[in-house]
Order: sequence, then C-alpha cells, then structure tokens
Amino acid sequence: MDSVSFILFGATGDLAKRKIFPALYNLFLDEKLTAPFSIIGLSRREWTDEAFQLHVKESLSHFSRRFRKEENRLAEFLQAFRYCALDVTSSADYEPVLNLIESREEELGIQGNRLFYLSVAPEFFDIIASNIKERGIGTSKGWKRLVIEKPFGHDLASAQQLNEKLSTAFREDEIYRIDHYLGKQMVQNLESLKLANPIFQSLWNNQNISSVQITASETVGVEERANYYDRAGAIRDMFQNHMLQLLMMTAMQFPEQIGPEYIRHEKRKIMKSLRSLTKENVAFQVIRGQYDSGEINGKQVAAYKEEPGVESSSTNDTFIAARLWIDDPSWRGVPFYIRTGKRMEKKSTKIVIEFKNTLHDLQEGHNEKATPNLLIIEISPNESVSLQLNLKNPLNYGQAEPVTLHFSAPGKDVPEAYESLIYDALRGDPTFFAHWKEVELSWNWVQPVLEAFAENILPLHSYPAGSMGPKAAHQLLEEDGFKWW
Ligand code: BG6
Repeated sequence: MDSVSFILFGATGDLAKRKIFPALYNLFLDEKLTAPFSIIGLSRREWTDEAFQLHVKESLSHFSRRFRKEENRLAEFLQAFRYCALDVTSSADYEPVLNLIESREEELGIQGNRLFYLSVAPEFFDIIASNIKERGIGTSKGWKRLVIEKPFGHDLASAQQLNEKLSTAFREDEIYRIDHYLGKQMVQNLESLKLANPIFQSLWNNQNISSVQITASETVGVEERANYYDRAGAIRDMFQNHMLQLLMMTAMQFPEQIGPEYIRHEKRKIMKSLRSLTKENVAFQVIRGQYDSGEINGKQVAAYKEEPGVESSSTNDTFIAARLWIDDPSWRGVPFYIRTGKRMEKKSTKIVIEFKNTLHDLQEGHNEKATPNLLIIEISPNESVSLQLNLKNPLNYGQAEPVTLHFSAPGKDVPEAYESLIYDALRGDPTFFAHWKEVELSWNWVQPVLEAFAENILPLHSYPAGSMGPKAAHQLLEEDGFKWW
C-alpha cells in the first residue's frame, strides 16, 4: 500500500474522536498504515499540534480497545499528527493547509497520495470539495481520494445537486461514500455466505425463499441530535442508506467475477428492479411510527414529542416498516420486509431468510407442524449465522421440533466497521462504499415516501417505547401470512 497524507476535515468533532482516531490507531498497530504517513487535522478551532496530539491521545484512551495494551507505540503514532485551523468557507484559509500538506510530504518522502476525509456537516461537503480543487490541493504527483460521510443529500434533487458539485472536483472512482453498515463484518460476510456455499447459491431465489426480513432496531432515542433527526426521520437517517444497502447486499445475485465493479453492478440491478411506489400507494406498503413514552430495560423514557429540541406537534417518523418487491426473475413474488426504529425493545440488526415450507402441505392430516427453515444472519450486537431446521426429538415421541445450527463469529478484536472501511479507502478498494448510482436509485425509491410523509397522506402510528413498533407493522406481514421473526 502507498504512503499517504490523511487529511481530516472536522478533526475536533465527535466522529473523529469516537471512530476515526481509534480506527487509524488500530491500522497503525496492525502495520496496515504504511509508514511514513502524515495525518493532518483541520477544524475551525485555533489549536497547536501539541494540543491536537493530546486530543487524539485522550480520544484513544476512551475509545480504543487497544489503548492500554499497546501504549508503548502511542508516541510514534502521535508524531504523525499535525493541525491547521481552517474556516472551510474561506478560500484564503486553504493556502496554509496546502503548505502544511506539502511540507510534510517533503519531510517524510510521501509521493503526493492524498486522502481527504470529510467528517463535517453536510452543508460543507461541496464547498470543501471545490476549494480542494480551486486551491490546487487536489493536484499532486500521486492519487487523490475523497471519503465522505452521510447524509448524501436530503432528497433526490439535493443528492443529485451535491453529486454534480462533487464531480467537478473528483471523479466517481475517487469518491468513497461511507455507509458504515457496509463495513460491518457480517454484512461483508453476506458475499461469502452466498459465494462460498453452493447450497445457498442454489437456494437464493423465489423457488425456495418465501420472504426476507431485515430489521435494525435500536433502544436509543433521538439523543442530542433533535436538530438533525427531526428533519431527517428514520426514513432518511436509516432507511434510504443502511437499510437499502442491506437489501442490496442480501438480494444481489452472484457477480460474474469478484471485484468492485461486478458487485456494484449486481447491487444496482436490484435497485433498478425495485417496484417503485407512487405517493398515493405508499400507505399500502409503508408504515410510519413515532415512539411514545414507555419502559426500556426497566427505565422509564419520554415520548419523542417530549424530547429536548423536538416540537410537541412533530410528525417526524422514528420508525419505518416497509414491504418491497424486486421485480426480476429471481425474486418476483418474494416480499422483502424492512423495519427500523428508535426506542425499540432491543438493539438488534439482523436478516432473516424464510424458506418455503412445502413440507407443511405434505404433512397435512399428520397433525405435525413443520416450522419453516430460517437462515438468520445477526449483524449486531452479536455476529452470528444460524440455520433453523426441523428434527425429530426422540424424547418427545419422535415429534419434529425446530433445532438451530449456530455459528457465532469471534466477538473480541474483530475490526470495527470504520477500521476496515478506512483501510479499504487507503488501498483504493471501493467495494464496500456506496456508488453514486446506488445512492441515486435509493433516493429515487424513497422520494414518493418522503412526499407522502410530508403531506401526511398516511397515518403516523404511535408505539410505546420498549416495544417492537406499532401494531400496523405486524399487520403488514400478517396480511401476507407471515410474521416478524
Ligand atoms: C447512524 C444513524 O447512521 O447509524 C444513527 O445516524 C443510528 O441514528 C446509527 O443510531 C446506528 O448505527 P449502529 O452501527 O449502532 O447500528
């Protein structure tokens, strides 16, 4: 891998502290950050290099699982950090940034490879990209890459505008749009689960699968983010990006070859085959909810409308459930159910593949009920794969009962999503980043839902905090003869 300058916009922010510094530290410890490397922090505050290094150290002491274990290498790591104050909207401020990048490259012998990481509020994405171009920061002997956080736009039109602006400064193959769900180990494992296991390869279609369910439930509420969340809602915060990415990763067919362009091509095909909604029929396929007060883990919590920063009249969605159809030969007729929400009973992200239950018919009159075979992929907080089968239990007079074959991935020391994503960006592998076309097609599907929500065309169901969402979300599946597993 090449030696790089890692240029971090928003270096004094929360994400840098919690995720980016610990990820870089682990990569450094694992020799995955090729020496020499330069890390340049940029933010509005007037800090010295020493103050910044101390900040990085403190961040690691709180958020790095390897901080205490490998403290002896810390000083070496911190030496790579420099800081420069920057008002991202002031063109003149970029000159000292360029000087600093170049002087460090010269000092360390780095060949001009530059990774720009935007960990800033989305309204600054385009101005930073254009200043990188205008001020010549993106012009060097080496490569340049732009890593960008979500949200990528607020709706279809704003996402398109943003992309247009970015593309004047960076080519598509230089833009790495982070969706941290794509960095989760079990999501990355979906590919191997299908590709490396012929039994699943042959089963992965509407001949054998009756439905697919994807759940991401959270126990946290809006936290201190009302300002953002009350305008975003679950639909923009989770559904348009993470949930649709999980759908693509689950449903995509086997690429002709392994490689980012093949995989992304297959994902795009799924999005193109998604049956689109109209504002008028959203209500038949989508349930929106908002949490009321309730109890989670023995603790009473407030209703969404009572959260600090939220208007008591807010109609914002904190829960979404939807039924989606992929109109292609492999998936025609298989409903994909997706749900996500805040203040639910437990924190859990999982995918459940329900297989067709032909046995059910065969056994008619035998008074023996076979449960459907299920393949359950737990993404977090536990990482596991289980397969539910029916077997006879000799202790129960040979009655068939569901049993589960279970594999749990090692929980400790598994690289975090940010670690593997930053590593991929550094080596130029875009497989687990969202391509613009995926983002655009996702917004395209979501757009009528946004409009139907804005016009209050469908009811806003309330659900008690600590539950698994509104009743209507259960009815959505019952209509089709299914239930949430
Ligand atoms: C973020 C959302 O993208 O994902 C948050 O903005 C959400 O609202 C978070 O809590 C969930 O991520 P994870 O990794 O905890 O499932």
